Amino acid sequence: MKVKGIILAAGKGTRMKSDIPKVLHRAAGRTMAEWAVNSALSVDEKPTVVVGHSKEEVMQILEGKADFVFQLEQKGTGHAVMMAKENIKGSDYTVITYGDMILLRKESIEGLVDLTINENLDAAVLTAFADDPTGLGRIINNSEGYVEKIVEHRDANEEQLKINEINTGVFCFKSDALLDALGKIGCDNSQGEYYLTDAVEIINKSGGRIKSAHCDALEALGTNDRAQLALSAKELRRRINNEHMINGVTLIDPDNTYIDADVKIGNDTIIYPGCVIEGKTEIGSGCVIYGATNIKDSKIAENVTIKASNILHSSVGSGTNVGPNAYLRPKSKIGKNCKIGDFVEIKNSDIGDDTKISHLTYVGDADIGKDVNLGCGVVVVNYDGKNKNRTVVEDNAFVGCNTNLVSPVRVGKGAYTAAGSTITEDVPEGALAIARSRQINKEDWKKK
Ligand code: UD1
Ligand code: CA
Repeated sequence: MKVKGIILAAGKGTRMKSDIPKVLHRAAGRTMAEWAVNSALSVDEKPTVVVGHSKEEVMQILEGKADFVFQLEQKGTGHAVMMAKENIKGSDYTVITYGDMILLRKESIEGLVDLTINENLDAAVLTAFADDPTGLGRIINNSEGYVEKIVEHRDANEEQLKINEINTGVFCFKSDALLDALGKIGCDNSQGEYYLTDAVEIINKSGGRIKSAHCDALEALGTNDRAQLALSAKELRRRINNEHMINGVTLIDPDNTYIDADVKIGNDTIIYPGCVIEGKTEIGSGCVIYGATNIKDSKIAENVTIKASNILHSSVGSGTNVGPNAYLRPKSKIGKNCKIGDFVEIKNSDIGDDTKISHLTYVGDADIGKDVNLGCGVVVVNYDGKNKNRTVVEDNAFVGCNTNLVSPVRVGKGAYTAAGSTITEDVPEGALAIARSRQINKEDWKKK
């Protein structure tokens, strides 16, 4: 049984008031286009997307995940499907969805396909019961429970306007019936458009059988403006957070925890309100993540505690404590059982196991060994105004408070630097480097 998935996404999305194409706006870590393709994947491993406005950008985001057909002018949903005729040919069933229905669940699409196949229907339409059906197509059922036709709001009479069963826009057709109907759809309506919904009446009139399956009104919500985008994103996050909780993650306040769709979190991890966890982040089990933390595209091992910190494109080993107010910039690799304390900034650096960088320190472009102590206020002076240089601090070294390590420089194994030193030359293993001027006390200076 070959099912073809078609996603309509050629519209401009004027109501977004945006320079970015509508389906490239993001919700819970994915673009709308990706959400739409993702739910279609359950019936077709490579759905066809009808693109029009900003087609290059849309195609780039979906590259490899979908095929594309181009609709030059947006002459209606029926016209959009006509563009995909060649892709429909050779399939048994065709499923139509929209690029902006990001709350549509896989189960609803699968249910619609099952209904069509099991009851040998010519088509099935996904409908919902709307509190306010204004603007939407109304479902006209006959007395035997079959769908007779769909009437657009603008074309509906007074009686039909009272119907609150609406067309979500999602269909499953027998492909032959659809191809036949596509050839017969006209544009004699208030908008002069080719309505896909007319296929229903055409199939019905030629003796075909059409039924409806229902989903809740929220799933049917199109995302047309920023207010609907916020609403959809909230619902997506609710689903994501719910799944994490079911899997054993504690969210202290799920309404105020922002986790993207592709984030993985181990069980017994506790996440406090106000955390934003984005991209392809993986978090191990037994971690505690306190509020105002932002983690993006990073890997956090088990039993890590993070307080109010930013971690971007980095990794943190098990048992390590981060923050409050630490900033791990891209390519920071922190070992196990480390302490990365308050106002510590790390960038493009490796930090060995058991190392402590407790306060007010900048480490950029450095390799710090195991069991090292970087005292308060240490600065790796990695930038000479022209080049970024790399510094190395070997295992067990003790770098005194307020030391400047002027890169490139090497502090040997177990070496010490005196507080306030500006280190410009390598420090041999086990040595103590003192690089500051000696203190002079001027007696009775105040009296004079
Ligand atoms: C359509 C349905 C209506 C249904 C509503 C649900 C028709 C005629 N009407 O309304 O019954 O209740 O959806 O939201 O089908 N698109 C294209 N090319 C086009 C036109 C549209 O790709 O030429 C795409 C849009 O990008 C969008 C989707 O199809 O993703 C729906 O288009 P939209 O204009 O929002 O549909 P409506 O006519 O409002
Ligand atoms: Ca719409």
